[in-house]
Amino acid sequence: MLLNIRNSIIAVLLAVAVNTLAIPAPTPFARSARAVGLAPPAVPASNATTVDPDYVPNYGFVSPSGGHLYDGFGNLWDFASFNSPHLLTCEPFEVDDTMRTLSSGFARPVSRTYVLQVTSIYIDASDAHIVSWDNTSMNWVYNEAMFQKMDYVLATAAKYGVKLVHPIINQDYGSEDSNYAGNWADLIRMRYGFATYEDTYAVNWFADPVMLDSFKLIITYLLNRVNTINGVRYGDDPTFLAHETGNEMNYLGYLPAPGNWTVAVAAHIKALAPNTMVLDGSLARNNYTDQSFALEALQSPLVDLFSYHYYRDNPPAYDYRRINADSAYVQSFGKTYVVGEHGFYANYSEYEDFFQRQKESNTAGSMVWSIRPHSAEGGFITHGEGDGIFSYHAPGWSPQQTADFDPLEEGIIHITRRASYTMLHQQTPALYPIPNAPDIWVVNNGTYGTGLSWRGGAVRGITSELCALC
Ligand SMILES: *[C@@H]1O[C@H](CO)[C@@H](O)[C@H](O)[C@H]1NC(C)=O
Ligand SMILES: *[C@@H]1O[C@H](CO)[C@@H](O)[C@H](O)[C@H]1NC(C)=O
Ligand SMILES: *[C@@H]1O[C@H](CO)[C@@H](O)[C@H](O)[C@H]1NC(C)=O
Ligand SMILES: *[C@@H]1O[C@H](CO)[C@@H](O)[C@H](O)[C@H]1NC(C)=O
Ligand SMILES: *[C@@H]1O[C@H](CO)[C@@H](O)[C@H](O)[C@H]1NC(C)=O
Ligand SMILES: *[C@@H]1O[C@H](CO)[C@@H](O)[C@H](O)[C@H]1NC(C)=O
Repeated sequence: MLLNIRNSIIAVLLAVAVNTLAIPAPTPFARSARAVGLAPPAVPASNATTVDPDYVPNYGFVSPSGGHLYDGFGNLWDFASFNSPHLLTCEPFEVDDTMRTLSSGFARPVSRTYVLQVTSIYIDASDAHIVSWDNTSMNWVYNEAMFQKMDYVLATAAKYGVKLVHPIINQDYGSEDSNYAGNWADLIRMRYGFATYEDTYAVNWFADPVMLDSFKLIITYLLNRVNTINGVRYGDDPTFLAHETGNEMNYLGYLPAPGNWTVAVAAHIKALAPNTMVLDGSLARNNYTDQSFALEALQSPLVDLFSYHYYRDNPPAYDYRRINADSAYVQSFGKTYVVGEHGFYANYSEYEDFFQRQKESNTAGSMVWSIRPHSAEGGFITHGEGDGIFSYHAPGWSPQQTADFDPLEEGIIHITRRASYTMLHQQTPALYPIPNAPDIWVVNNGTYGTGLSWRGGAVRGITSELCALC
């Protein structure tokens, strides 16, 4: 997903008002046309359990077999869950809240972070993981503070039994305007000392041996890093479900990353993280299954997982109904298929249809774009995707409580929760867990006067029914 991080920063500030008691319950927003047609699924009642699994078992490395995924004990680990693109840049409280939500809400808590950030048009060096290239040491300069944030994400995920897919670097979007996290064009610019982004077009990221070696230096740094919180070397950390070669890597606009590049990168990852799966991070964006996955990668024993990103039911290059053909094709090479991102469907029927297809096609995992946690400042982090679509919050609110909550949120959360159990042939638990007690403090909203704000738990709807998964 092309991620507009700047919007979400603004949205964090707007979201603070959501939980403020002094403010009268807002008038529910009119349901958009998308919501019409099918009622949301019945929402289970909540139960007085706390969501604080201090010691979950170490499930070990997740590995593929026969098109499915299994943990270190041989338990089926197929999943249906959500992307958490905020994880590498958010506050520690928000990391904890995300992990609580994932671990209590879904049968197999798996999520996908966003990429390592690179100093670039919208990313200051202080927010970048990869700051610059140093011609003296002939290596990248890294930002220790940003990697310590990542240490916290991994240590907290491990504590809650959450597994993470990490796309290492972002694709080049071909334009500075949408370059929200920094990407491989920025790496080319810094490595060669080019003045402009446009200059980087002279270098083919996928074929240039200097850039391949330079990217391997980043992978070496990442996988040899020892977590400052729990002492686990990243390359030995079973918290990574998979290392993904990149986010939406694409060649010439309509082809997957060249197979020999993906295999070269996978060989380097496997040398440093031999027990962790490698996911081909290609997104071909063409209409044809057999042209959307690189043959050399499909045939390599070094690449375990293949993925596509589906959005809506058209255009054909993104149509979620491709999942059956795409999954069958990948599995015909003995490989495992997951859907790294999907969503923005017109209505609940299409979500149900997607998950039915995931199950019938033996697709091992899927992650809806995207879920966001409570904000450290109170309320929730919200994020607009355009077209009236917003990031989701658990357990989901219906009707929509504020303009930047998605009108389909509650149904999407519950359909996905239910699918996460269906993938394991399990019954969905009848009851939700209840969130941890919130932190509460006094706020003064100039317009509405003094009231209470809180972060953590939340009261759901005007009936004050306790919400869950929060
Ligand atoms: C859901 O949306 C699809 C695509 O717009 C449409 O064809 C279908 O009729 C809708 N289903 C329902 C139940 O509204
Ligand atoms: C509700 O939670 C309590 C405490 O964890 C548990 O003992 C009980 O079995 C739960 N009730 C149901 C119906 O699941
Ligand atoms: C680093 O050195 C190379 C030649 O080895 C040169 O082309 C490049 O411009 C230098 N980069 C910077 C950032 O100075
Ligand atoms: C992949 O093959 C292309 C075409 O033969 C070549 O230009 C490129 O250097 C190769 N890349 C790698 C990483 O081997
Ligand atoms: C993919 O399908 C769309 C819509 O039918 C069409 O416009 C486009 O040309 C097709 N692309 C290719 C590469 O065939
Ligand atoms: C107070 O809350 C209202 C309603 O949410 C909001 O529109 C307004 O911007 C808030 N004012 C301040 C100063 O935060």
